[in-house]
Amino acid sequence: MCFNYNSIMARILTGIQSSGVPHLGNALGAIEPGIEMSKATGNESFFFIADLHSLTSVKDAAKRRENVHAVAAAWLALGFDSDKNYFYRQSDIPEVTELTWYLSCFTPYPMLANAHSFKDKSDRLSDVNAGLFTYPVLMAADILLYDADKVPVGKDQQQHLEMTRDMAGALNHAYGVEVLKLPESVIREDVKTVPGTDGQKMSKSYGNTIDIFTSAKALKKQVMGILTDSTPLEEPKNPDTCNVFALYRLLADEDRTAQMRQNYLGGNYGYGHAKKALLELILERYGSAREKYQSLMADPDQIEAFLKAGADKARPIAQAVLQRVREKTGF
Ligand code: ADP
Ligand code: TRP
Repeated sequence: MCFNYNSIMARILTGIQSSGVPHLGNALGAIEPGIEMSKATGNESFFFIADLHSLTSVKDAAKRRENVHAVAAAWLALGFDSDKNYFYRQSDIPEVTELTWYLSCFTPYPMLANAHSFKDKSDRLSDVNAGLFTYPVLMAADILLYDADKVPVGKDQQQHLEMTRDMAGALNHAYGVEVLKLPESVIREDVKTVPGTDGQKMSKSYGNTIDIFTSAKALKKQVMGILTDSTPLEEPKNPDTCNVFALYRLLADEDRTAQMRQNYLGGNYGYGHAKKALLELILERYGSAREKYQSLMADPDQIEAFLKAGADKARPIAQAVLQRVREKTGF
């Protein structure tokens, strides 16, 4: 399904793993579309930082806290309105772990064994912990605990959404009533894949990111290090095969993109010039977000205050849903 941000009057919920400082790909592919969507009138948006999920791989406590803060600061710096919406840290609402248990008792073993998130790693079973195996149950609890209507996710998460519906359906079926609301996934097909400095998909795991929140010096180094071919400065260049141009056009308006295309085609315009223009564009677009990010990260108490306010607002909703489940299951 293609997503029209303005046509939905619904409770929208999505989780973001706290796996490091967000980069340009995360901003353009997830954070900015999420903020856009949360602005549509009539929508209620729930955005949370999935820190419990991160324990399946990250064991370092300080790293986890830092990552949660970095993700929260990035969302706030890029303009997410945490007053209008629900913005919280998964672990601040421990009801989610209780619901995970109830759901796990309605989840057939083969369903979990069939999850891509597990199967991809199952060739080295000794590295798979039970948390990774039951990851989809915790994710289902994240969604069902808030009676979410729509869950915008990337294609890789679609199977988890189907499993969520199956788990809710199994529990509802057992008690003959709609205890849990079945959510719909909204697959974001309109969101482009942002290329990294080497032309592959930008990803923390490929070490090819452009870190919009890093120091100006480090950012410059990343942009200047974007891989290009060796066409000499004086010769015309093909914008459509160039990483620098691919990134530039994602950020520039039509006029600037057309001008840059001319620069490439005209010759006497080097990749160094294009990279400099790209760097300026990044600093122009993200200048104020970078400042806001720095000031938030310098004041962790302020970030904690945002997260606590969000949890206080969301928790009563979770408690009411959990109470429904407890009653039906006889607890
Ligand atoms: P990474 O690959 O850097 O670890 P994540 O998997 O944590 O990033 O992705 C977090 C969010 O950002 C997801 O919603 C994902 O779809 C989006 N995202 C990540 N990389 C890109 C990219 N290169 N282009 C577009 N969206 C991206
Ligand atoms: N598993 C999701 C991812 O890796 C993150 C996530 C956790 C999530 N809980 C969720 C997404 C609930 C949507 C709804 O991207």
